[in-house]
Amino acid sequence: MGAMLAPSVLNADFARLGEEIASIEPFSDLIHLDIMDGHFVPNLTFGPVVVGAVKNVTAVPLDCHLMIYNPPEWVEAFAEAGADRISFHVRSCRDMESVIRAIRNLEVSPGLAISPEVPVFELKPYLGMVDFVVVMCVYPGFGGQKLMPEMLARVGAIKRDAEELGVAVEVEVDGGVKEENLLQVLKAGTDTVVVGSSIFEAPDAREAACRIRTILDGTRARG
Ligand code: DX5
Ligand code: ZN
Repeated sequence: MGAMLAPSVLNADFARLGEEIASIEPFSDLIHLDIMDGHFVPNLTFGPVVVGAVKNVTAVPLDCHLMIYNPPEWVEAFAEAGADRISFHVRSCRDMESVIRAIRNLEVSPGLAISPEVPVFELKPYLGMVDFVVVMCVYPGFGGQKLMPEMLARVGAIKRDAEELGVAVEVEVDGGVKEENLLQVLKAGTDTVVVGSSIFEAPDAREAACRIRTILDGTRARG
């Protein structure tokens, strides 16, 4: 199977969020929602209320990326708001295993995200428990940053670690993905691409999402 597209609305026009989502919906496999608490990352976004509002206007599954400390306190609220997948960060809490279990018990797909400064071996003990890993190719906090190409090697490294353990894990790449580097990102073995500013800061978000979809479908057809 080819890669999935998860547009991140972080750089969308929040006063017109419903319209922004409607414009990219036909080309999207997931909607990526960046939740930031102003502590774990130096930016503040939105919480379960906005996730619930998005849920009401789209049938596309919601991919909630928590960049917050103390995720156990919040996973239930995001699940209730309509999250279909919840990822949280390595080093964001003490007992990551119990958070993964809590997310799964809420019938939400659990994922772990890893920032560039965190070594990949810290993920390994959890690879058998999560459905997906989010490889950050920028320091989390803001859209519109440049992809750190050296992070792409992590995709293969994580897949090899998973294979060694006899488990399957899907890898999502987040941060700095744009049309110009999409093939490079896919070549690394990425299953899901998050694309934020390259869609929502394009002159026409719908056209940008459509072009990215076409590239993904093209690589899919070539197998
Ligand atoms: C960064 C966020 C990303 C971001 C992606 O902290 O996790 O999801 O919105 O935006 P671009 O594609 O602009 O890097
Ligand atoms: Zn994100």
